Amino acid sequence: MSYAICFNSHGGPEVLEWTHVPVGEPGPNQVRLRHTAIGVNFLDIYERTGLYATRFPAIPGREAAGVVEVVGSRVKGFVAGDRVAYVGSQSGAYSEARVMDVDRLVKLPDGITDQQAAAVLLKGLTAHMLLRQTYRVRKGETLLIHAAAGGVGLIAVQWARHLGARVVAIVGSESKRDRVRALGIDHVLLLDEDWVAQIKSLTRNRGVSVVYDSVGKDTFERSLDCLRTRGMMVTYGNSSGPVPPIAPLELSKRGSLYLTRPTLFNYIAQRRALDNAARELFELVQRAVINVHVGQSYPLKDAARAQADLESRRTEGSTVLLP
Ligand SMILES: NC(=O)c1ccc[n+]([C@@H]2O[C@H](COP(=O)([O-])OP(=O)(O)OC[C@H]3O[C@@H](n4cnc5c(N)ncnc54)[C@H](OP(=O)(O)O)[C@@H]3O)[C@@H](O)[C@H]2O)c1
Repeated sequence: MSYAICFNSHGGPEVLEWTHVPVGEPGPNQVRLRHTAIGVNFLDIYERTGLYATRFPAIPGREAAGVVEVVGSRVKGFVAGDRVAYVGSQSGAYSEARVMDVDRLVKLPDGITDQQAAAVLLKGLTAHMLLRQTYRVRKGETLLIHAAAGGVGLIAVQWARHLGARVVAIVGSESKRDRVRALGIDHVLLLDEDWVAQIKSLTRNRGVSVVYDSVGKDTFERSLDCLRTRGMMVTYGNSSGPVPPIAPLELSKRGSLYLTRPTLFNYIAQRRALDNAARELFELVQRAVINVHVGQSYPLKDAARAQADLESRRTEGSTVLLP
């Protein structure tokens, strides 16, 4: 037995409870892990509120780092004592220990701490998906990144800059603006200003090549208005609520736009894709091209407070839970 955060109904952070749970023994292709740091993601909130489907009783969390304690009979390539991290296709990371499929584990290289791994893996693989695959960013292009001081946002702006893009970032407060500017991003706009007009002026009415929009409902339509002819709208999150249905003619009348709604798990389903993306990410972290900012950490027991802070926009960078 060990402790985990569980919930048995959808609702606010108060449905999350500190609970004694069985961990179990690993199957042939599984390991038992002792978690050392757990990543908090907005996705965990969608599952708690019911926006994304969940089965009860549920343990939130898709991302953690830890140490392998027991390996299943057919496991190759991992031994007890290995430092690992994972992005799970199933939740269960808000726990002291868990059984995990081995095909989702990545070994942690030297120079990446457990807390860094829990802070960067899911969010950094998302940035890899967005900038390297969904729309492959090229040198000199202008792009727009929403929620730029957030978990995914801070990683994405650093990566986009490294790729040679001209980054326009949007944030919700002056202090978040300072955080993003400190990374060398010149154009950091405020969400409650007329950022569409500002982007038109910055691009001499041309518009940006691609918008990465995780805010969703509140920004979707205005984001479309920032794109150049045949630009790409990447809507990848619902922090303010899900985007309502849209008529294809809206894309046509704004200049033959492209629209996509990517999900990380479709991009890392194959082992090779996961390994390649993780290798690229860890290398950039080790070279300090991407600095991982753990803006806040909480004891695992206080997961409800961590989610409440994330939901109410009080956080910067990544949030980590410590068992
Ligand atoms: N598609 C995928 O596979 C995938 C994978 C990972 C993450 N995501 C998405 O990426 C986004 C970022 O995730 P994260 O965990 O790194 O969270 P986060 O960006 O650290 O937190 C969300 C941020 O969104 C901004 N925001 C604007 N309006 C908001 C509102 N009404 N309510 C709440 N937040 C609002 C806030 O920044 P300001 O205060 O600066 O406005 C807030 O800090 C989420 O939407 C998540 O769903 C998608």
